[in-house]
Amino acid sequence: MKYLIVAGARPNFMKIAPILRAFSSKRSGYSSAHVLLVHTGQHYSRNMSDDFFRDLGIPEPDINLEVGSGSHAEQTARIMMAFEPACLEHRPDWVIVVGDVNSTVACALTAKKLGIRVAHVEAGLRSRDMSMPEEINRLCTDVISDLLFTTDTMADENLRSEGVASEKIHFVGNTMIDTLQQQIGRARELPLRDGLAPGKYAVLTLHRPANVDSPDRLASVLGAINAIAGRIPIVFPVHPRTTSKLAGIELHPRIQIVEPMSYLPFLGLVARSQMVLTDSGGIQEETTVLGIPCLTMRPNTERPITCEIGTNVLVGTDPQRILKEATSILDGQARIGTIPEKWDGRAAERIVDILLNQCVQASTLEC
Ligand code: UD1
Repeated sequence: MKYLIVAGARPNFMKIAPILRAFSSKRSGYSSAHVLLVHTGQHYSRNMSDDFFRDLGIPEPDINLEVGSGSHAEQTARIMMAFEPACLEHRPDWVIVVGDVNSTVACALTAKKLGIRVAHVEAGLRSRDMSMPEEINRLCTDVISDLLFTTDTMADENLRSEGVASEKIHFVGNTMIDTLQQQIGRARELPLRDGLAPGKYAVLTLHRPANVDSPDRLASVLGAINAIAGRIPIVFPVHPRTTSKLAGIELHPRIQIVEPMSYLPFLGLVARSQMVLTDSGGIQEETTVLGIPCLTMRPNTERPITCEIGTNVLVGTDPQRILKEATSILDGQARIGTIPEKWDGRAAERIVDILLNQCVQASTLEC
């Protein structure tokens, strides 16, 4: 059996690393499982891509589509046009896609139209917000996938309610958390930036188009952040999308603007912080597992389990609300969370077991 596994953008890399590892540790038992790594090149800068490969020990991609940035239509189309010949050349039995970025939907659609089976890792997450490009990517990918691997049972319910057959859905846990558990020891050993003491600083990330592409929204959110910086230093690794939007906005001197960080230093920074303010998806999950309070500056989340049982609070973008919730954490009122079921570091093993079993079931001879 041949598998093409696709990664394109920063949040994909920590999701594919443990799957590749699980395949290589199983390969001896299933000698014909042949796995090729495809990098679409959606993210291409050193600090958005190469550094993650290095930190996570991901091998060089077998196929690099080098598509780069563009509008959604341009980027999605370029990935599809570059991925189709790769599929035709390598003729995989399965294409494995992860997450919800443009590379995910582009490769899923390309493969499916060539009659190649598609497995989607992190299926079934729903924000119910169709203004988010990722929500469109999730819906389109899930509806055409043959195997849907979920991170929690709420995702299973979402898929079933959309008519996905139960036998395609497998609740396996969270591969991003597999990576966190593998790497947290190394991450905590890295020195903190000068002037930061464990438990005495906050971390900020902001990159959602809904927050950063509107100058008014960005200025209003950063107004609340400036007020919080009056009480605690804040480290702000700035995503490339956000960099140019900061011009002309005055920031409190205790906000430390830094370049996007690679995986290990960022994990080490978050793990020793007092709280995180973010509009990211994955960071909501990582903070829940680390037990770090997280304020998510969005009106909705596709990861409600992190609010229900984890440390995440959805605060929207009203500056008063952001400040109120941050103040309550700084005053020692942070919520205590628990870790979701099966976020135990073994999701990738479960995924590979299921994929290899499909192969055994399909035909013992073929495999
Ligand atoms: C993409 C994903 C988003 C994910 C985010 C993580 C989609 C629809 N969006 O959004 O879900 O949360 O990645 O980072 O797939 N740029 C660089 N270097 C790079 C990549 C991008 O400088 O390596 C700059 C370019 O100017 C680009 C801009 O960042 O136009 C935005 O990049 P893009 O990949 O379009 O979207 P993200 O906001 O990163």
